[in-house]
Amino acid sequence: MTNMDAINKRVSQRAFLNKKLDKDSEDKLRNLVHACNKKSGLDMQLICGDPKPFSSKFKTLGRFSNVNNYIAMIGYEDDELRKEKIGWFGEYLVLEALKMGISSCWVSGTYAPSKSACLMYDDEVMECVIALGYPAEEDTKVTTAFNKVMSVKNKFVDSSKEPEDFYETDKDRLPRWFIRGIDAVAKAPSAMNRQPVYFKYFDDKLTIGVDEAYETDLIDLGIAKMHFMLAAGNGSWESGNHAEYIIDRLRPVEREEGLSEEE
Ligand SMILES: Cc1cc2nc3c(=O)[nH]c(=O)nc-3n(C[C@H](O)[C@H](O)[C@H](O)COP(=O)(O)O)c2cc1C
Repeated sequence: MTNMDAINKRVSQRAFLNKKLDKDSEDKLRNLVHACNKKSGLDMQLICGDPKPFSSKFKTLGRFSNVNNYIAMIGYEDDELRKEKIGWFGEYLVLEALKMGISSCWVSGTYAPSKSACLMYDDEVMECVIALGYPAEEDTKVTTAFNKVMSVKNKFVDSSKEPEDFYETDKDRLPRWFIRGIDAVAKAPSAMNRQPVYFKYFDDKLTIGVDEAYETDLIDLGIAKMHFMLAAGNGSWESGNHAEYIIDRLRPVEREEGLSEEE
């Protein structure tokens, strides 16, 4: 499965089979989490066989079932880029997990963080978790009901967006890599499905930003940056809010024009 397959296939999964993660997949995920921590300075922890944060129907609003595994998304209090990095590396892990047949859901509100078996120091913060497991059929019902509530709710917040709603530009013709990137951002998960990121593309300079109106906005920013980068395939983001996209001029033109979808 390519990154694009994973981006297109991913949906938030809230009901899982009561089944342990396959040993090879668990090892592989643990190694990826470790590598991402080394690169980012985060302290993300893969916790398996710990249903407690999701065992209260009150906390989970009855939305989740059989969540036995999750990644605790932990970073240091004094790390100003903590939330964005959690979004960026977390979404990378979400897509890699999906390639192994493991579904997921980002969760920042509907769980009990204090019940988690993760080990945290005083100067650390757990921003959210990513629930992981093998998808159960019954999720369709839960998800459909949840999405219905969300779509009603979003009429009062910021309704589900079309790709064109994400950007402003002075360009008459948009490059293909940009369109591909925006399409992938429209498919990205975001807290309460608010999709808070917006792009400005003027004078050949592309930036991405959020208003930071909600605590999760910077996590959503990191997630959107990851989707865009994987789909556009011709560069990467500087770090921070309102950051610029830097095109890697050394990449082959085919890649820039999106003719090669291979990884
Ligand atoms: C940072 C973040 C926090 C989230 N928190 C929750 C949550 O607490 N409970 C929940 O059921 N879903 C949560 N979600 C999942 C979103 O509701 C979901 O991504 C959104 O509705 C879009 O649906 P999709 O992921 O299926 O595309 C969260 C997503 C993100 C990115």
